[in-house]
Amino acid sequence: MTDILELAPQQLDKFGFLDVDVDPTLDLVAEINKLKKEKNAIILAHYYQEPDIQDIADYIGDSLGLSQEAARTEADIIVFAGVHFMAETAKMLSPQKKVILPDLKAGCSLADACPAPIFKEFKKKYPDHIVVSYVNTTAEMKTLTDICCTSTNAVQIIESIPKDQPIIFAPDINLGRYLVKKTGRDMVLWNGACMVHEIFSAEKIAKLRMRHPNAKFIAHPECEPHILENADYVGSTTGLLKYTMRNEATEFIVATEAGIIHQMEKASPHKTFIPAPPNNTCACNECPHMKLNTLEKLYVCMKYELPEVILPDWVIRDGVKSIDRMLEISAQAGL
Ligand code: 13P
Ligand code: SF4
Repeated sequence: MTDILELAPQQLDKFGFLDVDVDPTLDLVAEINKLKKEKNAIILAHYYQEPDIQDIADYIGDSLGLSQEAARTEADIIVFAGVHFMAETAKMLSPQKKVILPDLKAGCSLADACPAPIFKEFKKKYPDHIVVSYVNTTAEMKTLTDICCTSTNAVQIIESIPKDQPIIFAPDINLGRYLVKKTGRDMVLWNGACMVHEIFSAEKIAKLRMRHPNAKFIAHPECEPHILENADYVGSTTGLLKYTMRNEATEFIVATEAGIIHQMEKASPHKTFIPAPPNNTCACNECPHMKLNTLEKLYVCMKYELPEVILPDWVIRDGVKSIDRMLEISAQAGL
């Protein structure tokens, strides 16, 4: 153990996780459950995690649900089975707790598309604008943000802002365009996109719909406008899941990361869920960042309590205000 901890800084830097040998005969599920109890740890998992991880989590949800849970948990350790910005958000909301995630390199193309120093300069051009940022940003970006939002509450957040108040919306241009259309607000949009949601092929989806004429086509608002305009329903991952549970259709074509289909199938075993096809032959509708987390890395991370998310005090102090404001507006809206 001492050797492993001595090597940890170099390993985390190089790989993003502790590269230790794990006995292949170990029952990882039983071991993880044991560690949860021993350490009073809670596992929070996003819907885009692999099914094994979703099944062992204490809470599975979308970005909003996960931040609400991170704010309210009484556990000593938050194990974040998701990507880096989500674990940072949890740390900002619960700074006194230890927050660990299985792979530090689990990033996000949206967060990467909006580096805080560049955004800071950009913002100077719009001194009278307030900044609404999708929660998919770095902790430092949150210090430059007035109100965060997620795909579940974005419409309510924008509508909570007085109509004459100009807004910069960052970093997702697709969600931004969707919000402009939905709320009628003319916002300055940052040009970032999710590498998973911008990959869907309208042509292949149209052909798929011809083969499944009764299927409902549902999409996440991170998808491009020409995909969204043909959708029967647009919503966050939780919104999409609820729609499939409530709608009487028995077939759904799902344009978001394919991980959510695990929960859809569990909730409605008699229904069929077809992942919307990407515009090439790879499995591009799987987020390569989310999928960096594995059950084995989850076990190692819980055993050694590494990698840990650590943030400077000033980032927590200045950044959490934008998340708190989002949670207040969401609570007022009953979300
Ligand atoms: P939601 O969790 O808000 O649905 O967002 C999806 C996503 O891409 C998270 O990274
Ligand atoms: Fe980021 Fe897209 Fe992956 Fe979500 S699915 S973590 S937005 S790259």
